[in-house]
Order: sequence, then structure tokens, then C-alpha cells
Amino acid sequence: MPSPIPRSAPRKKTAVAKAKTPRAAKAGPAKHSAAREDYLECISQLIGSKGYARAVDIAATLDIAQASVTNMTQRLATEGLLKYEKYRGVTLTTDGAKLAADIIQRHEILTRLLRHFGIDEHTIYRDVEGMEHHVSRQALRGFNALTDELDANPDLVKRVRAAMV
Ligand code: FE2
Repeated sequence: MPSPIPRSAPRKKTAVAKAKTPRAAKAGPAKHSAAREDYLECISQLIGSKGYARAVDIAATLDIAQASVTNMTQRLATEGLLKYEKYRGVTLTTDGAKLAADIIQRHEILTRLLRHFGIDEHTIYRDVEGMEHHVSRQALRGFNALTDELDANPDLVKRVRAAMV
């Protein structure tokens, strides 16, 4: 999803959560679609920053039509991932919040790793938004461990960056 401001990722170590798929998310063929994950990520961030997520704000953030937002939020509500609140838009259910936390964690781990490569923030953001939907939990654990190593070894980071030129 396009966004002008890349979110900053925490510098501290991140423990990769065990795979826990909420029951509601297991139903349906497109259970982990990128679009669904982008919605949950976006809604979670809007709630974090504004306290609520309205369709108009979701549409603006994801750069899509408000009618599409209404369709998707109705689907997510049917699946038990979010609920409507009068005058406040949507909020995440416990299952929705778990899925959102998972995608946000993937985003943060990948961002921490790519920052070691000295790539510009806009490129990192675009790369991460694509990668976060496809990375396996095993690979994510590997990326997390590798990032911790790079955090602790500035000389290694230097060598990696030098080899990238
Ligand atoms: Fe993301």
C-alpha cells in the first residue's frame, strides 16, 4: 500500500511469535490475502494514531475507493475480524487484532533487516509492503536472528554494504 511516511521500526530485539491463526481467519479460500492483511494493518495503525478507523480514512491511506473499503470491511466483519461502531467506523476484534499484530511484526522485522543494507526509506517501505505478505514464519525467524547479528556486528554491516556496491 502506498504511504508517504515509512513507519519507523523499533531497534530492540523482536521475538517472533509462534504461529497462532485465529479461528475466524481459517475460513474461506483467500484467508491470508495481501489485501486483507493491508486492511488489518491499516485499521490497526489508524486506531493506534486516531483511536478509530473510518472508511474515509482507510480509503485515503490505502489509496482506494471508499466503496471498495465498505465491501472489504463488511467481509472482515462477517469473518469476525472487525466490528462496526456507531459514529466511529470500525474496530478490530481480538482475532483481527492478532492478525494485525502479526503483519505489523513482519513489517518491523523486515524493515530492521533492510535498514542494515543502507537502502533509502522509501524503497525499504515498498519492498517490505510486498515481502511481508509472502515471508514464511521460518524465514522470518531467520531474518530476525540475522538482524540481531547485524545489530551486534557493525563491521559485518560495513562488509555487507561494501559488497553491495
Ligand atoms: Fe506493512
